[in-house]
Amino acid sequence: MNDIVFELQDVKYSYQKKYPALCGIDMTIRQGEKIAIIGANGTGKSTLLHMLDGLVFPDQGRITAFGQELSEAALADEAAAWKFRSRVGFVFQSADIQLFCPSVREDIVFGPLQLGVAANEVARRLAEVARVLDVGHLLDRVPQQLSIGEKRRVAIASVLAIDPEVYIFDEPTAGLDPLTVRHIIDLVVQANRRGKTIITAIHDLHIVGELADTVYVFGKDKKLARSGPVEQVLSDRAFLEAQNLVHIHGHIHEGREHVHPHLAFERHA
Ligand SMILES: Nc1ncnc2c1ncn2[C@@H]1O[C@H](COP(=O)(O)OP(=O)(O)O)[C@@H](O)[C@H]1O
Ligand SMILES: [Mg+2]
Repeated sequence: MNDIVFELQDVKYSYQKKYPALCGIDMTIRQGEKIAIIGANGTGKSTLLHMLDGLVFPDQGRITAFGQELSEAALADEAAAWKFRSRVGFVFQSADIQLFCPSVREDIVFGPLQLGVAANEVARRLAEVARVLDVGHLLDRVPQQLSIGEKRRVAIASVLAIDPEVYIFDEPTAGLDPLTVRHIIDLVVQANRRGKTIITAIHDLHIVGELADTVYVFGKDKKLARSGPVEQVLSDRAFLEAQNLVHIHGHIHEGREHVHPHLAFERHA
């Protein structure tokens, strides 16, 4: 059985043909994998995720999704686009882009209704995702008026309601409180246990090990700097330092000055 979900071969992409964002990326993502994309700011993580979601297309090289070329022309076919949209769900970095309906309820049912899911099944999914993401009390609220954590939960609920095979998350935990972060991690892990493929761009190296088995590190040159099992890649401090993902930081500890590597974005004690 061919279980390849996405395959990228020497993919290049530049914005407006002049600002490079992806420079010769090769990747194979298989069904049921849980992978993380890490890299400093501006290394192309979001661009890659947008490409996996059929929002931008390679200038050079090739990407396939479920064995078929993922191109603008392929998605111009309504049936093919419909099929692709029902299989791949994207949680954007900014929930404000994702939520556009007058109420939370309408945002959550929008995807499945668009995809032609029967009304009773849509109602069942709404009730379920509202419970799982604890947004039942927000259903009649205006999404734009919610807190960032509430918006993020609604955005995730709206993608869960589609019940896609592949979940793509762009920095799903950024700016959230620890309890909400924990909740999102649990959800991701559970979805993966149900066989879903999970692709997450993430800044917080502390939780990469929970969100992924395999990690892809994007470098400043917009190339893939390394990929491999999470423990293996994250244990190479010198490499992470070179990628701007950790920094050396001196501080006083038990009366003596120590120098410790810190993960990027780690709060200093
Ligand atoms: N809309 C855009 N127009 C021009 N350049 C862009 C645009 N979006 C991103 N870029 C550039 O593409 C590169 C990769 O950006 P991005 O994929 O957002 O990185 P990351 O998500 O890793 O922070 C950066 O150099 C960025 O400046
Ligand atoms: Mg980004």
